Amino acid sequence: MQALTYASQGIQGTLTIPGDKSISHRALMIGALAEGQTEIENFLAGQDCLSTLRAFQDLGVEIERQENRVKIQGCGLQGLKAPDHPLDMGNSGTTTRLMMGLLSGTNFATTLSGDEFLQKRPMRRVSQPLAEFGVKIETTPTGTLPLTVYGGPVKAAKVELTVASAQVKSALLLAALSAPGTSVIKELLPTRNHTEIMLRQFGAQLETAADGLTITVKGQPQLKGQKVIVPGDMSSAAFFMVAATIIPHSEITLTNVNLNPTRTGILSILLQMGADITVHETIQEGERRGDLTVRSAKLHGIEIGAPAIPAVIDELPLVALAAACAQGVTEIRGAQELRVKETDRITTMVTLLRQLGVTVQEHPDGMTITGRDAWQVVDPNFDSFGDHRLGMVAAIAALKSSIPMNLKNEDAIAISYPTFFQDLDHLCQKG
Ligand code: S3P
Repeated sequence: MQALTYASQGIQGTLTIPGDKSISHRALMIGALAEGQTEIENFLAGQDCLSTLRAFQDLGVEIERQENRVKIQGCGLQGLKAPDHPLDMGNSGTTTRLMMGLLSGTNFATTLSGDEFLQKRPMRRVSQPLAEFGVKIETTPTGTLPLTVYGGPVKAAKVELTVASAQVKSALLLAALSAPGTSVIKELLPTRNHTEIMLRQFGAQLETAADGLTITVKGQPQLKGQKVIVPGDMSSAAFFMVAATIIPHSEITLTNVNLNPTRTGILSILLQMGADITVHETIQEGERRGDLTVRSAKLHGIEIGAPAIPAVIDELPLVALAAACAQGVTEIRGAQELRVKETDRITTMVTLLRQLGVTVQEHPDGMTITGRDAWQVVDPNFDSFGDHRLGMVAAIAALKSSIPMNLKNEDAIAISYPTFFQDLDHLCQKG
């Protein structure tokens, strides 16, 4: 159990945000599939990305890591070697789902296993559309891990997704790389497009149509090793963006944050709620990036519906926390995907808000939150429930609570942000 900090004087200072988790995973995967060396700078050495790194080492890829620098000797899909044991995906849904697509075109079978949380998460959303590419995957009868991907010839396909998921889309794109001919993948709603951007950087022929939903990809490209400089993770920056907004007397600057529009939903939503955030964009192509200055502000409630969800999917617990300090009511709907994340984030977030004495109504696809000026803590002992993002949301909530708060199962935070408490302390020093 960890004692959490109270920021009586607000938070102040400048912080460089650690590398993006989604981009770090993809740099390892696409680097392994390319010919020649790939160098990754500002790699996120969180547990999830290390699960991806170890999986490729187990597949025979030479990878060296020194802190946040990684060198991969790419060997192409046909250069991967059959592992002699199941690959351990740890807690990582991204590793599992993208690997399901990537391993489709090998000439061997691979079994994937994972921790108790990952074993509960749905995998048919990937295995079913992959069947259209002729790929055979065997899951448990409930469609979960452990599963086996039977690598073999992959055929080009045209697939329409029935769930808004970048992981599913990316799995299909990675499978399509092995297929001779052109594949077409149509999304339900636009989701994060890091796989598309990176595949283009490595030399793949891939186009997104004007509808922003239809992606055409040519199979069997020659991918060439690249240097990838990973921008800071918007999902990590978001914790401090909300903290500085809701705690009076705060002013912070977050540098090197990824500003890919498929990830900036939290920025738009906070601005819509009345936040004071200035954006200074430093790189305007590929994975856009820049610096954000955030000052305390009074928020008001808003309505958030399905089309806005994919760009803010991982930050919705933070939106709920911001809503708990806002004037009026905030309604989040169309967010049923939250139920199949590391935890059921609708239930775990409702639990956390009720511990703070906030009035919240749970819906199958979201929640309605009535904000209040000062919380009336009912239970000061938070639990991450093994969910990294829930743990960090609890730590941000504690900054504003006038009584001492604690966090159980705080270890989960290292899954995506190993230096979170150090970075938070840095911003709280003047407080
Ligand atoms: C991710 C996609 C999202 C997100 C996850 C990372 C990715 O998942 O929640 O944290 O890197 O592609 P879904 O595709 O399931 O929405």
